[in-house]
Amino acid sequence: MTSERPTGPPPAAPDDRQRPLPSRPPRREEVAGATVGVLHRGPWWKSDLFIVDLGDGPMVVKDFAGKFWLSRLAGRFQIDQECRAYRRLGPLPCVPAFLGRVDAYAMAIEKIEGDLLTDSPNRFTDRRTHLRRIRRVIDQLAAIGFAHLDMRARRNVLLRPDGKIVVVDFAGAVWWRPGSFGYRLFESWMRWWYQATLLKWKKLLTKGISPREGKTFRYHRGFIDLVRALRLRRRPRRS
Ligand SMILES: Nc1ncnc2c1ncn2[C@@H]1O[C@H](COP(=O)(O)OP(=O)(O)O)[C@@H](O)[C@H]1O
Ligand SMILES: [Mg+2]
Repeated sequence: MTSERPTGPPPAAPDDRQRPLPSRPPRREEVAGATVGVLHRGPWWKSDLFIVDLGDGPMVVKDFAGKFWLSRLAGRFQIDQECRAYRRLGPLPCVPAFLGRVDAYAMAIEKIEGDLLTDSPNRFTDRRTHLRRIRRVIDQLAAIGFAHLDMRARRNVLLRPDGKIVVVDFAGAVWWRPGSFGYRLFESWMRWWYQATLLKWKKLLTKGISPREGKTFRYHRGFIDLVRALRLRRRPRRS
């Protein structure tokens, strides 16, 4: 472990949310013609993400349409679930704005300016600030009964130019209405999961540990983090 001197929050930059959002998602027949870039080309079982611009600004289209039929079939359910998740989340600063569904295989969301948090040059020097912000995002999601479940993946956490954290990829999320029976049943499990997620991010933002740490033994390490998180929860708090 290295000890780093926190240098305070990253310099303020204009909030890119001030930029107006595209007014609508593209129709299927518009996607190919309005695609201005490929953001992420997924393997055969995952979606492709395109940057699409209809003339009023870029947006991201997550699309399974060009995939193998089995992936397209699975993609329908994933897109369905992710659209439901975005609708349930509503407008939150820590998630991209939902622009709408294109068709059964695709949906459109706000394009987040910025990069992966793990690719940011200030990820170590501003570690404390980033961790505080990740914790805040987690608290926001937990407060509305939303368990992301895939926030351990470094590719799902982005850093905007204004220093804010944005999480993407809600296909695996689950949620309960706060106060409901399901929420009461799963709240402590969800918080335990998030605690383990934070442990992973502490490692990812520590100098000397590669962002690809845990790639091979991902699930094994995930299990260890869960056990550590459980111990932390059980440890009596010092006043
Ligand atoms: N709204 C967005 N703005 C900018 N980049 C994004 C956005 N959504 C996703 N990405 C980038 O594309 C990658 C893949 O998207 P994701 O939704 O995580 O798909 P997958 O299901 O393939 O993991 C992410 O890791 C992220 O880097
Ligand atoms: Mg992802």
